This record gives sequence, structure tokens and C-alpha cells, in this order.
Amino acid sequence: MELTLDSVLADAVNRLATAAKDRRHPMHTPVVGTADGDLRIMVLREATPDLATLRFHTDLRSPKCGLIGSGAPVSVLAYDPEARIQLRMRGEGRIESQGPIADAAWERATASSRRCYLAEIGPSGLLEAAGSAIPDHLLHRAPTIDETFPGRANFAVLLVEVRSLDWLHLTHEGGIRARFTRTSAAASWQQTWLAP
Ligand SMILES: Cc1cc2nc3c(=O)[nH]c(=O)nc-3n(C[C@H](O)[C@H](O)[C@H](O)COP(=O)(O)O)c2cc1C
Repeated sequence: MELTLDSVLADAVNRLATAAKDRRHPMHTPVVGTADGDLRIMVLREATPDLATLRFHTDLRSPKCGLIGSGAPVSVLAYDPEARIQLRMRGEGRIESQGPIADAAWERATASSRRCYLAEIGPSGLLEAAGSAIPDHLLHRAPTIDETFPGRANFAVLLVEVRSLDWLHLTHEGGIRARFTRTSAAASWQQTWLAP
């Protein structure tokens, strides 16, 4: 099949959508960057077909939530070593802890995945000894759904509107690279091939 800019964009969309659903997919845990230069791995929960939304779940107490707030630049980097495809994305991120998106994400989360939001100290909080800050009685078992309710106050979603996507396929001949940019999700993509 001939590679076109449209087919490359479709490949990226398909890869991200699949990765969000498949925990074994190498792009399931991309690296998320913030404007302070910090990076961290996060689980990709959803990628909409128009890439208007990449959804991640996070703890509202973590430093990145304060940094991103209601709007800030966010980058997302994913690599599939088997396909040898790298996706570099930049966009506008926002944190939502209230509202229908956060509510629906919390409702769908299993009790065991809600457990981390029950930690008594939020991410990056100082501890006097090594540990997770999860209450002792929940250290070795999943909480019941009722026990997870206090964690809702700490739960938030990070939503990223992708405005720039760089697709790179490494090959023995050197590779193929394409870039897609837009000013907002409502605008159409500007697309071009680039030297790898
Ligand atoms: C495999 C893996 C998956 C992770 N998934 C998430 C996630 O989905 N959300 C999240 O906030 N942190 C996740 N983390 C933890 C982050 O990498 C990071 O340590 C934490 O969010 C604190 O980041 P911050 O100090 O930049 O706010 C994950 C870490 C690993 C190793």
C-alpha cells in the first residue's frame, strides 16, 4: 500500500486508539512532558479519532496538576519498538477533577485502580520512610468499592488536545517522517513530509 500523509495520520490515530485499549501495547504508557521540562510515564486511557482528546488519569495532588491547571502546553511521546514507529505530540493540556468526563472516568475505574487515590500523601509529598502512603489495611488487598469513595476527591483527568503530531518510522533505508500541525482541534491539519 502506498504511504500517503493521510494514511500516516490514520496510522497514528489507529495506533493510539489501540494502545489505549490494550495494556500490552507499547504505546499504552507514553511519556508525558510538561512546560517545566519534567517528564513522566502515564497510562493512555483514550485517544479520540480526531485526536481532540488524549485522556489520562491522575492524582489531583500531584505537581503536574497544579502546573497544567485549566490550560498549559503538554507533550506526549510514544514508541512502538516492534513497528519502529515514534509518535511525538504536543498540545494543550487541562486538568478536570469535576464534571462529566472526570465523573465517567471514575465510575469506570475498578476498585483496584482507584486504590492509589486513597494514599494519605499525594504524589511528590515527603515521606519519613520508604512507602506508598496507602493506608496499612489496604496495602495487601484491593479496596471494596465503598472503601474507594474518599479517593474521588483526589482523582482527576488530564485531557490533551493534540495540535502537533510528528510520525517517524525508522527503516534500514533511513526512515520516513511526517508532521501534522493545527492551531486547534477545530482547524484542519497542515501536513508535510520531513527528513527523518
Ligand atoms: C508504568 C507506569 C504507569 C504510570 N501511570 C500513571 C498514570 O496513569 N497517571 C499518573 O498520574 N501517574 C502515573 N505514573 C506515575 C508517574 O510516572 C509519576 O511518577 C507521578 O504521576 C508523579 O508525577 P509528577 O510528580 O510529575 O506529578 C505511572 C508510572 C509508571 C512507571
